[in-house]
Amino acid sequence: MHWRTGYFLLLISTITLLSACGGGSSDGGNSGGQNNASTTKIALGKKLFFDQNLSSGKNQSCGDCHDPAAGFSDASVAQSAPVSEGSVSGQFGNRNAPTAAYASFIPDFVKTPTTTDDGTVSNYQGGQFLDGRAVDLIEQAKGPFLNPKEMNNGDGLAGRTSVVDEVASATYADDFLSVYGENAFDDVDAAYHNIADAIAAFEQSDELNPFSSKFDAVMAGGELFSASEQRGFDIFTSKSGVTNGKCGNCHTVNDPPAGSLFTNFNYFNVGTPPNLQNPENISNPAFVDEGLAGNPTVISNGDEAAERGKFRTPTLRNIELTAPYMHNGRYQTLEDVINHYDIIVSSAEAGFSADDEYPEVDDNIATELNFGDPLFTAALGLSAQEAIDLKAFLLTLTDGYTP
Ligand code: HEC
Ligand code: HEC
Repeated sequence: MHWRTGYFLLLISTITLLSACGGGSSDGGNSGGQNNASTTKIALGKKLFFDQNLSSGKNQSCGDCHDPAAGFSDASVAQSAPVSEGSVSGQFGNRNAPTAAYASFIPDFVKTPTTTDDGTVSNYQGGQFLDGRAVDLIEQAKGPFLNPKEMNNGDGLAGRTSVVDEVASATYADDFLSVYGENAFDDVDAAYHNIADAIAAFEQSDELNPFSSKFDAVMAGGELFSASEQRGFDIFTSKSGVTNGKCGNCHTVNDPPAGSLFTNFNYFNVGTPPNLQNPENISNPAFVDEGLAGNPTVISNGDEAAERGKFRTPTLRNIELTAPYMHNGRYQTLEDVINHYDIIVSSAEAGFSADDEYPEVDDNIATELNFGDPLFTAALGLSAQEAIDLKAFLLTLTDGYTP
């Protein structure tokens, strides 16, 4: 697929333009979704990704919260709680599991100020997790095994040892030795690193990055959007003014659009209200997720105030499958999200929203969402048909399209 290669080069040049250091560590880490790993390593990574034995209760794998059937996000959350339950029942993190698909394109975390077409400044870019606190995919994959609210194997060396021991006695232990050498289990830290390395290789494979949506088919030529999808695309990509979506200012559409990831990897506060249904909010009603302001690098840079409430712009690929939406799972449907951008943020700013529709953090709200209206009363101004069109376009981003 030539256009993917073309896109890859385009992405790299964009990142290089935006940041002094760009993406790309050497092996298995962030190399912009490009995968040089052997098929054996990818297959090993897949077995690790779906192995429930790697959790304390032997009941949870990465794949349970990043389920292929749910666009590699958490399917169960829509039914029980808006956020994922860990291996230990009753233990919940406070964030909605994002898709692990296309995460391999997220560049390494870096401070690099940029400004959108509507004048919103983002000071940081990239990094894994919604606050960028893991620099790349390998560092990210080392987290969930030890997290008490996720796979709960214990802290520090003891936790790492128990994960490595489990892999050493797994049915696929020989695969691990053949990829990383016959002494690969001897050093716990090296083995733990390589477990994450193999998972990262799987996450970089075509299986998580298929680019097989209707949008991709249209951009490749030979397939056409419906009239409604096309109108939605036009609203999505329009850049400024009261009646334009400005979605593409942050959920970037490339020029030409083939291979777009629908994110500039930058950090914004779009005024998401708190989710009072989350276990964390139920046990502590004053709980606020400060997003990027909680990232240790941001704290050591003394940048918390400017970054409160910001989250990394998520990809919108497979958005049809990844409900609920936003960092806290506040919205169950795409209609709710569109309504948020269309009405809720501006009316909250104007002071006449219901209590639970005020932004969770009412600082640093992106100027895109103020719609240039000094009284903050003008919303996007979408007609009912335009809201339908915008959703129709978002539904073209689901992988596995067959004409
Ligand atoms: C209990 C559910 C759960 C499990 C198990 C889990 N994750 Fe996640 N994952 C999450 C949540 C929630 C986040 C977002 C957390 C945050 O931002 O602080 C996340 C974030 C991620 C991200 C970053 C995506 C992004 O957009 O920044 C990747 C990649 C990922 N997980 C891969 C994995 C891998 C690999 C494993 C297994 C080693 C795993 N996850 C296990 C819930 C889970
Ligand atoms: C200023 C940048 C910006 C603009 C403009 C913007 N978004 Fe977003 N979008 C974000 C960020 C940041 C988030 C994550 C917010 C959170 O988690 O609280 C997000 C979240 C979303 C989500 C939920 C994704 C998920 O996986 O949970 C959808 C859907 C979405 N946006 C669609 C749109 C549409 C449609 C528009 C145009 C009407 C738009 N966005 C405009 C930055 C932006």
